[in-house]
Amino acid sequence: MPKVVYTTPDGARETVDGRDGDSIMETAVRNGVPGIVAECGGAASCATCHVYVDEAYLPKLEPMEDLEDDMLEETAAERLPNSRLSCQVRLGAALDGIAVTIPPAQT
Ligand code: FES
Repeated sequence: MPKVVYTTPDGARETVDGRDGDSIMETAVRNGVPGIVAECGGAASCATCHVYVDEAYLPKLEPMEDLEDDMLEETAAERLPNSRLSCQVRLGAALDGIAVTIPPAQT
């Protein structure tokens, strides 16, 4: 069961158990992790699930689709090189322990 370590907007760290195939957004919402709004429900069309991914895990991620890349231009918080939409990052064994930081604003 892959774990995800979230740093929430208030600086707290929460570690939760995810399920293979679920997204980092879904895992946060299911576990009540604050700061991920996910207005569109995971369709890569709202950019309110923006997270910053720990640099160590970036090489393990699937490349982003053009739609995600475009939506990351619409984030409320600044886009950084390690920005991803958490609804587009799916968990699996390779991402066990992935750490993400949730920005202070999503809208
Ligand atoms: S939940 Fe809307 S873009 Fe991820």
